[in-house]
Order: sequence, then structure tokens, then C-alpha cells
Amino acid sequence: MEAITAESLTIRYDGKPAVEGVDFTLEDGETLLLLGPNGAGKTTLLKAIACFHRDYSGRLEVFGREPCEAKELIGYVPQSHSLNERVPLTALEVVAMGGVYRRGFVHFKLPPETMEKAGEVLGFVGLAEVGDRLFSELSGGQKQRVLLARALMSDPKLLLLDEPLSALDPSARVDVASVLAKIKRERRVTMVITTHDINPLIEVGDRIMLLNRRLIAFGRPEEVLQDPIIKSVYGPLARVIPVEGKLFCITGDVHLHRHGGGGR
Ligand SMILES: Nc1ncnc2c1ncn2[C@@H]1O[C@H](COP(=O)(O)OP(=O)(O)OP(=O)(O)O)[C@@H](O)[C@H]1O
Ligand SMILES: [Mg+2]
Repeated sequence: MEAITAESLTIRYDGKPAVEGVDFTLEDGETLLLLGPNGAGKTTLLKAIACFHRDYSGRLEVFGREPCEAKELIGYVPQSHSLNERVPLTALEVVAMGGVYRRGFVHFKLPPETMEKAGEVLGFVGLAEVGDRLFSELSGGQKQRVLLARALMSDPKLLLLDEPLSALDPSARVDVASVLAKIKRERRVTMVITTHDINPLIEVGDRIMLLNRRLIAFGRPEEVLQDPIIKSVYGPLARVIPVEGKLFCITGDVHLHRHGGGGR
């Protein structure tokens, strides 16, 4: 079954296309790594798939339905998380909230079965021991794993992750990437992951999309990760290097300057 189908998909803001004429299909259970420079339309595409942005033309389907008809199948982890950290929630409470949002309200007291499930999911992401700690006091990598756990509370069939590795140090990147690999392996969730750095994620990527408003390339990693394709988007210094049978992609320092500016 196709998890996502896009045909001649154009997504606009105020009449101006941010994503233009995109075609692709992603099969159920596959993981797509979505790569492209700042402003390429990665977040825009994720938002259209998640029914957060509806100004598009062409065909866009999620498990054979319009995105807004498929909302209960979708989990979304935004680029810069929107939690107000001044509200003193524990890690466990943040995760548990993922199980009650969908009913359209937040319980004053979370039901025990929700708390129990939150504990299990927190264990799944390897953070059983931080449940009682304040979310605001966790490390960046721990926060990102808590947000993954929160998105898993609704048992999504499709998980959309907007730059889950940005703003993390290399060891935290490895931790989060291994949780994503575990989600793929054990939960068989279809995932779309936007990233500026595909190297830590290369093992989970079944398909890679290179987007720069238009679709530059879509296919298996070895089809897309080729010098001429990467250079056409990132310039002459970009390159693909095979190391011990794995492909590494150097796209320049596009992700360096954005950390200071913060995410959208
Ligand atoms: N709410 C909005 N209103 C108008 N234009 C927008 C809006 N959000 C994004 N855009 C524009 O759409 C284009 C694509 O933006 P988008 O955020 O999807 O890029 P991105 O690939 O996610 O970039 P980044 O790597 O910086 O996160 C950009 O030109 C951006 O300025
Ligand atoms: Mg973005």
C-alpha cells in the first residue's frame, strides 16, 4: 500500500509556490529522508502532508485519503518544538499529553492508563529513568527523544519529523538516530525525516528526496547520492564519499549558520 502519493503537487503561500510540481510515492513501512537547502520547501511539504497547510494543488494522499481525512494516522514532530518550557511538566507528562491531545482537550489529571502507556513509550526511547525529571532540564538529545515518544503515543502509521537532529551535538545525534532506527525496525512506522545532515540517518533511509522548491531527485540512496546531483543543489564543493561501503554526503556548511538563527 502507498503511504504517501503526490502528483503534480504545488504548495503555495499567498499564491506563491514554495513547492512546485512534485511527484513521488512512498510505500507503507518505508523511510524517506528529505534533503534540501534552507528555504527548499521541506517543512512546507511536511505541513501539507500533515494537513497543517492546505493551500496546494495537484494530488496528495496519505494512505489513500486526503491528508485532513488521515490525521489520526499521522504523528508530527515539529522543527523547533512549541512546548512552553516555563510550564513545569515532567518528561512523563509531556509524553502522556501525546495520548490525550487528539481528543481535543487536555485532562487536568491524566488517566492512569495514559500514564502507564507513557511510561512504556518512554522506556522504548531509552529514557525510563528520566520520567520524573522536568522536561525543561533535560539535554537536547533527551528532549528530542521525549518528543519522539510523545508522537508515538497515538500509534501513528506515518511519522513526520522535521529536522530531529538539528541543534544536537554528534553523540546526541547518534542517540536520536538509533531511536529512529528502532522505531523503523520494531514499530514498522512509515517515516518522513527532513534533515540537513543525512549521514547519521543513512541506514534508516529507504528513499531519499532532494528538494529545492522543485523535485531534484527521488530514489534509493545510491541513485540520489551522486556527485553531479548533490553539486547541482549544494555547489561545486559538495560531494559524496563512499567509506567502507557506506555513502557519506558533504553538503558544505549549510546547517552551521542556521543554528544561531533558530528554527521556524
Ligand atoms: N508561513 C509562511 N508564509 C509565507 N511564506 C512561507 C511561510 N513558511 C515558509 N514560507 C516560504 O516558503 C519557502 C519554503 O520554506 P520552508 O520552511 O518549507 O523551507 P525549509 O526547506 O523547511 O527550510 P529550512 O531548512 O530553513 O527549515 C521559503 O521561501 C519560505 O520563506
Ligand atoms: Mg524547515
